[in-house]
Amino acid sequence: MRKTVIAGNWKMHMNCADTEKFLLKFLPLIKDIGIERNIVIAPPFTAISTFSANTNFKNLNIASQNIHWEESGAFTAEISPRMLIEHQVKYAIVGHSEPRKYFSESDEQINKRAISAQLNGLTPIVCVGESLEQRERGEAERVITRQVEQGLEGTNPANLIVAYEPIWAIGTGKTCEAVEANKICKLIRNLVGYEDITIQYGGSVKPDNIDEIMSMDDIDGVLVGGASLDPVSFARIANYR
Ligand code: 13P
Repeated sequence: MRKTVIAGNWKMHMNCADTEKFLLKFLPLIKDIGIERNIVIAPPFTAISTFSANTNFKNLNIASQNIHWEESGAFTAEISPRMLIEHQVKYAIVGHSEPRKYFSESDEQINKRAISAQLNGLTPIVCVGESLEQRERGEAERVITRQVEQGLEGTNPANLIVAYEPIWAIGTGKTCEAVEANKICKLIRNLVGYEDITIQYGGSVKPDNIDEIMSMDDIDGVLVGGASLDPVSFARIANYR
């Protein structure tokens, strides 16, 4: 059976005090959500311990915004699986378009991060998505195919989430049409070749479009940026109808 995963990516927002304030408001708003709906938040590394100390882990889990493939070593600015496991981190976002763009992350590195997450008992959330220029040139499907084939090579599809995040829809307020997003998510499912894989959509997901997005057959969850920073709006997304 496919897992439903509603995830918030806080990116470089929220310190420890903000995190405590957020959870105080957010936790009561998600208390009636059943365990079949997995709610996940990826705080910045500095707030992970505050987050884990203030969570009951009943239906809210922690994701990391990165993961390295070595257990320790001379890798300034990186984070190892061992450091994350200590804080009950269950998911790791890899291949987001921001590190791909600003730090030239390659499909090969993303693949090593995804495999590292799986080997250490975490579920990788591997992001894929095309730019506006690629979409306008009619290359969206080719780009996604390359990212899926190279980024997921050798991974176990039974412990994997793929997030389709068209770059032009991130932080722009321009959501990809639900039917089009569904079509790309179906393509990803076919490429992976595992019917039960969880596929998320991400890009300007908001309280007013979540119900339509989640009604699509091939979309099993969402990866939310801006709207996950506000406890009321992220709770409405988590409580989608
Ligand atoms: P927004 O929801 O702010 O568009 O960000 C999406 C995203 O990048 C989630 O990883």
